[in-house]
Amino acid sequence: MDLSSFTDEWQMQRQQLFKSVPPEGRKVSYLDKEFLVFPNTFWPFADSLPLIKNFHVAPGEHVLDVGTGSGVIGIFACYRGAGRVVGVDINPAAVRSATHNASMHGFSDTMQVLQSDLFTALGDQQFDVITANLPFRNKPAQDVVAMSQWDTEFKTNTRFFEGVGRHLKPAGRIYFVQSNFGEIDTMHRLAQASGLKVTELAREATDEARRQEFFVFEMTRV
Ligand SMILES: C[S@@+](CC[C@H](N)C(=O)[O-])C[C@H]1O[C@@H](n2cnc3c(N)ncnc32)[C@H](O)[C@@H]1O
Repeated sequence: MDLSSFTDEWQMQRQQLFKSVPPEGRKVSYLDKEFLVFPNTFWPFADSLPLIKNFHVAPGEHVLDVGTGSGVIGIFACYRGAGRVVGVDINPAAVRSATHNASMHGFSDTMQVLQSDLFTALGDQQFDVITANLPFRNKPAQDVVAMSQWDTEFKTNTRFFEGVGRHLKPAGRIYFVQSNFGEIDTMHRLAQASGLKVTELAREATDEARRQEFFVFEMTRV
């Protein structure tokens, strides 16, 4: 089976898992911490590991986590000492899960979670750090669960790069996830067109054959 078919099958299985969570939610252990996911929420997974292990948040900095899902990246930003975290997600189930997890980890005063299509609910707010683990494959998504993994015509990613500059402080930095089965070349093109310099910060594979490899890129204004 080629990588694309293997990935399709594996991702569809995961979407079924996200949908089959009982109404009271399911606990997921991740990096020695527990998170609760309600039905239809993306579970914390290896894709965010290179970002979470390597991103830098100075104490007091303001962080925006785009496509927050369970809230996992925003919650780790709180543990690193962020002064304020805003998590946004288009999926109401993710907003519910992330809100619950922020509270469960004791960060309801620091972390706010908003339902938002990318930056629409943010007005003119600007942040020191913007993190994003968006769907990284260019593939039609039929529902909000598929939208956690697939981006129809890569439009969400395209809009992210068109709009991110408005919400990034002048000396701010972006930490952005991609994969060897995603769209790394397109990401470079979109970032450069938005005036961003891109540096690979870390990568991590889930298997010895490195069939699935996840990357985090740091981006700053040129
Ligand atoms: C790969 S998941 C990552 C979730 C979480 N950040 C993590 O690392 O586990 C992508 C997330 O992006 C969200 N998303 C997709 N399109 C979006 C959009 N247009 N605006 C906001 N969030 C979006 C999905 O609902 C999903 O929760």
